[in-house]
Amino acid sequence: MKDTLDYIDVFTDSFAPEIGIVLGSGLGELADEYSIQSIPYAQIPGFTKSTVPGHKGNLVFAEIHNKKVVMMQGRNHFYEGHSMQDITYPIKVMKKLGVKHLIITNAAGAVNKSYRPGDFMIITDHINFMGTNPLIGDNDNSLGERFPDMSEIYNKNLIKRADAASRILGINLKHGVYIAVSGPTYETPAEVKMFRSMGADAVGMSTVPEATVAHYCGINVLGISCISNFASGISSNKLSHEEVIEITDKVKPQFKELLLLIIKSL
Ligand code: HPA
Repeated sequence: MKDTLDYIDVFTDSFAPEIGIVLGSGLGELADEYSIQSIPYAQIPGFTKSTVPGHKGNLVFAEIHNKKVVMMQGRNHFYEGHSMQDITYPIKVMKKLGVKHLIITNAAGAVNKSYRPGDFMIITDHINFMGTNPLIGDNDNSLGERFPDMSEIYNKNLIKRADAASRILGINLKHGVYIAVSGPTYETPAEVKMFRSMGADAVGMSTVPEATVAHYCGINVLGISCISNFASGISSNKLSHEEVIEITDKVKPQFKELLLLIIKSL
């Protein structure tokens, strides 16, 4: 950790961000626009490199509405073969940098049949269906406790701010439960049916590890899913990563406005 922080410090001149943002599939543009300093993950000691098309891999420092922000432009996924510890390491780094609020974004499939591609969903709670947990292993007591409470991972105050921002922008923001799977396969129709009966509204392959670790560290978490497709079995279309990218590309401008307004309100 010290190596990582020393390296970042040299590049950012002791920049102390209060807001962290994880930008998911096709949503990384905000970082390009506001970047003051961008460091490729591959250069940062302790970070692992992203391997997925549509996911850049940069840690980007920016000032937005007079607030200091650090953004992950792209993230690493469990299905790439990275460990849970590697995936969540940047969140621990954000904590050490002083981040108080973390906005996590992702692309997700609609499990709830009333959702449509292009909708946005505030994550009110999640189901960890990844088969493992990012906090398995020795506990770092300087970050959080051994058996962390998970009764309110997603911060209610931040959800209120997101709702207010969406009303101003005329965006119909859904509220729902996100279920995380390991991937890389999309789900079978039977799995999606099961997830619906379990109370899930959207399914994806990320976010839960980062949200878990951030909450454990005492960071306020806001999660926003961009619904990029109907989950398997809802429509007769086959799922493809291209479809996910196409939809996120389309809603990108609106998503950016939403994020900017939320940041302004913090
Ligand atoms: N399933 C899992 N992950 C996803 C999906 C999906 O349908 N869409 C975007 N990420």
